Amino acid sequence: MKNFIKNQLKTVFKKVLPSYVTFDQNRNDRSGALHKAWGHIISNNIRGAYYEFGVYKGDSLYESLRIYNEYLNWIRNQKKSQELWRRKVDWFVGHQFYAFDTFEGMPANEEEHHAFKRGYFLAGIEEVQARLAPLPGSEKIGYFQGTFKQVAKQFVCVGGCAVAKNLDKVAIANVDCDLYSSTVDALRILEGKLQQGSVLLFDDWYQFNADNNQGQRRGVKEFLNKNKQIILEEYITYSHCGKAFIVQMEDK
Ligand SMILES: C[S@@+](CC[C@H](N)C(=O)[O-])C[C@H]1O[C@@H](n2cnc3c(N)ncnc32)[C@H](O)[C@@H]1O
Repeated sequence: MKNFIKNQLKTVFKKVLPSYVTFDQNRNDRSGALHKAWGHIISNNIRGAYYEFGVYKGDSLYESLRIYNEYLNWIRNQKKSQELWRRKVDWFVGHQFYAFDTFEGMPANEEEHHAFKRGYFLAGIEEVQARLAPLPGSEKIGYFQGTFKQVAKQFVCVGGCAVAKNLDKVAIANVDCDLYSSTVDALRILEGKLQQGSVLLFDDWYQFNADNNQGQRRGVKEFLNKNKQIILEEYITYSHCGKAFIVQMEDK
């Protein structure tokens, strides 16, 4: 009921407010970042999957799929365009969605952050699936339950994940798991799946006082030291502590 009222209000606001206010691309929050990221992926026809590390109740997963669906609608309209070239572009529309979480809250850790203690951010997988259910394509989301480290040993997937062992290349990875250790484990899963143009979003880039030796920054720094063929080009900052990068592959 709450979501229904929220959606109704959104529809009314969209009609009343000018499009530049309501248009996701002009937002400086996570939805704006996801909109830009999907725009980059779709317009460059980059294949691969949307990876989310840290799902909690599914807010950003919902936003990502909602925005992706808007692009799919846009593509459908291109097929009806008067302009031949628009009709002729062979847009790739088969991006898979992968969602990784313990679905039991934050794992045990020794990082001593007041907001990231064991068990915080607790939401079960059924709660997330129910939240996403109204969106077309939600049935195709593959859920991976467990710590990222556990999951990496054997990719057992719940939901719409047909080829669990062969995860797709990365189109977008939304790494929203707060901790240094979790970022290391998430990047280990992504290693070898990154490609030229992949977008990496780190939702907690400015946590831990933006200290390069803690949190996501430390995880990324170590990853890049180990993988010299990968360069991260600064893309956008968003919300109060997020930063996104575009992958440059030096050995392509
Ligand atoms: C800040 S919440 C994610 C917020 C979410 N993206 C949203 O839109 O609301 C962080 C999530 O990361 C998960 N997480 C953190 N470290 C993890 C790990 N090593 N393995 C699995 N899940 C982890 C937690 O369970 C928690 O649900």
